[in-house]
Amino acid sequence: NWSMDDFIDQQIQKIRDTVGDKKVLLGLSGGVDSSVVGVLLHKAIGTQLTSIFVDHGLLRKNEADQVMDSLEGKFGLNIIKVDAQKRFLDKLAGVTDPEKKRKIIGNEFIQVFNDEAQKLDGIDFLAQGTLYTDVIESGTSTAQTIKSHHNVGGLPKDMHFKLIEPLRTLFKDETRELGEKLGMPHELVWRQPFPGPGLGIRVIGEVTEDKLQIVRDSDWILRDEIAKNGLDEKIWQYFTVLPGIRSVGVMGDGRTYDYTIGIRAVTSIDGMTADFAKIPWDVLQKISVRIVNEVDHVNRVVYDITSKPPATIEWE
Ligand code: XMP
Repeated sequence: NWSMDDFIDQQIQKIRDTVGDKKVLLGLSGGVDSSVVGVLLHKAIGTQLTSIFVDHGLLRKNEADQVMDSLEGKFGLNIIKVDAQKRFLDKLAGVTDPEKKRKIIGNEFIQVFNDEAQKLDGIDFLAQGTLYTDVIESGTSTAQTIKSHHNVGGLPKDMHFKLIEPLRTLFKDETRELGEKLGMPHELVWRQPFPGPGLGIRVIGEVTEDKLQIVRDSDWILRDEIAKNGLDEKIWQYFTVLPGIRSVGVMGDGRTYDYTIGIRAVTSIDGMTADFAKIPWDVLQKISVRIVNEVDHVNRVVYDITSKPPATIEWE
């Protein structure tokens, strides 16, 4: 009879047998999978694990701090946090094509990770949060090609690490169960899906720090209201996008000419198909009022009522 406690004991033993007294490197993305791997490995081999967390500046508000507070502060992982916001913004300057943006972010991520990894001595193993579904998908040629999905943690090609993938036999829900068993915080374990390129594909067109700020702040308000109204476990994924168009508004006696924020919220099983979430009008109204009042340079909020297909979940 399969139980999560047995799984944890077995994996810890297996990791110890494999690693011996050698050192392991892990790329933390802030997502569920790599975080669970980090906590599990730390439990097994403690300070033989070093983690690198690349902050590309495209994370949600407070997300990097949450990761550090929890994984370093509470669980005691040894984490090298790399503040690479400027590197990413410089590379993204002037780029408007979604696929180009994805490639730039994915490549830069690997480069920043490599640069840091090269500073470390005597690492033999690279740990990854590969799940069973990743194993299956990479074994077929029918993987989704509509958008190139650059998931964080790709193996640097010119480095000769041995791989450790303790979640290889687990599905997502089992990974979450494992995280809970390991005592990880609920909000980390139940985090909604978040794309590798992050807010970089939620600022439509060219990414600038000003626009990232607008998306970050509006997204924060959306998440706050969704949680306050008890909808966070009913909606599969929810976020704001900045289409980059401006429109006319009125405030006091004056005319404004400011940005529009789009709200995207969907119900789904696996992200392959999705319906727009039927958020109650009064909740939408509160979100809209707060975004316009609290976020500078926004004077209009629209709600995306398209399903997937024909639209995708993300706007880019
Ligand atoms: P779409 O927009 O294709 O999204 O309907 C389906 C799911 O995939 C996520 N997504 C990505 N995840 N890198 C990722 O790691 C990406 O480039 C990427 N693009 C979309 C999206 O957030 C949704 O959960």
